[in-house]
Amino acid sequence: MVVAAAAGLVAGALAWRYASRRWSLPCPAMLGWVLDLQFRELVLPTSRVLDCIGLQPGQRVLEVGPGTGYMSVPAARRLGETGRLVALELQPEMARRARERLAAAGITNAEVREGDVTSAPLEPQAYDVAFLVTVLGEIRDRDLAIARLRDALKPGGILSFTEIVGDPHYQRYDDVLRRCLAAGLEPAGRCGSWLAYTANFRRPAAG
Ligand SMILES: C[S@@+](CC[C@H](N)C(=O)[O-])C[C@H]1O[C@@H](n2cnc3c(N)ncnc32)[C@H](O)[C@@H]1O
Repeated sequence: MVVAAAAGLVAGALAWRYASRRWSLPCPAMLGWVLDLQFRELVLPTSRVLDCIGLQPGQRVLEVGPGTGYMSVPAARRLGETGRLVALELQPEMARRARERLAAAGITNAEVREGDVTSAPLEPQAYDVAFLVTVLGEIRDRDLAIARLRDALKPGGILSFTEIVGDPHYQRYDDVLRRCLAAGLEPAGRCGSWLAYTANFRRPAAG
């Protein structure tokens, strides 16, 4: 029974991964509960991810694809009263849940906007950091997203990607690196393990 369930899960993940290569398939809001499973802390500890991204008090930060807001609350807390988190979410139902989560946590230095990172208005040179946790593979035009996020960063700003093996949309580091180099970004550190990594890229100070 357990073996059959595990086989079903693996088959579903593989089918989703295959389908995602052909169509843009964001994690459906009805699966939002999966994002909130505490199990994820075993392979992707939130504090370690935020340490690696390097969030600092006072920064202006863009989170793309917050989903239910799992990372948004601790990220906003790290920015302190003088910092600000803007979370940009494609799906209205996910955005609603992220807003509810932030409000329930008493967070006042964050807002959730609805939109697609490849087309939503993004202020140029406005952010110290932009980060995506298990989101890049869900974006159909990844190169366009990276170029738009580069432009939204202040010179010297950081674009950060976190990916976890087993996610149907998992993106290999080599592929992320290739796209970022093509966009004129510089590697700026990587942490993690074979199971999950966070990779940072810097917009050149003169770029
Ligand atoms: C797998 S979830 C990850 C959620 C969250 N980052 C976390 O770690 O719990 C991916 C999220 O990215 C959002 N997303 C996908 N494509 C997007 C896009 N083009 N623009 C903005 N958000 C997007 C999806 O709607 C979904 O909520």
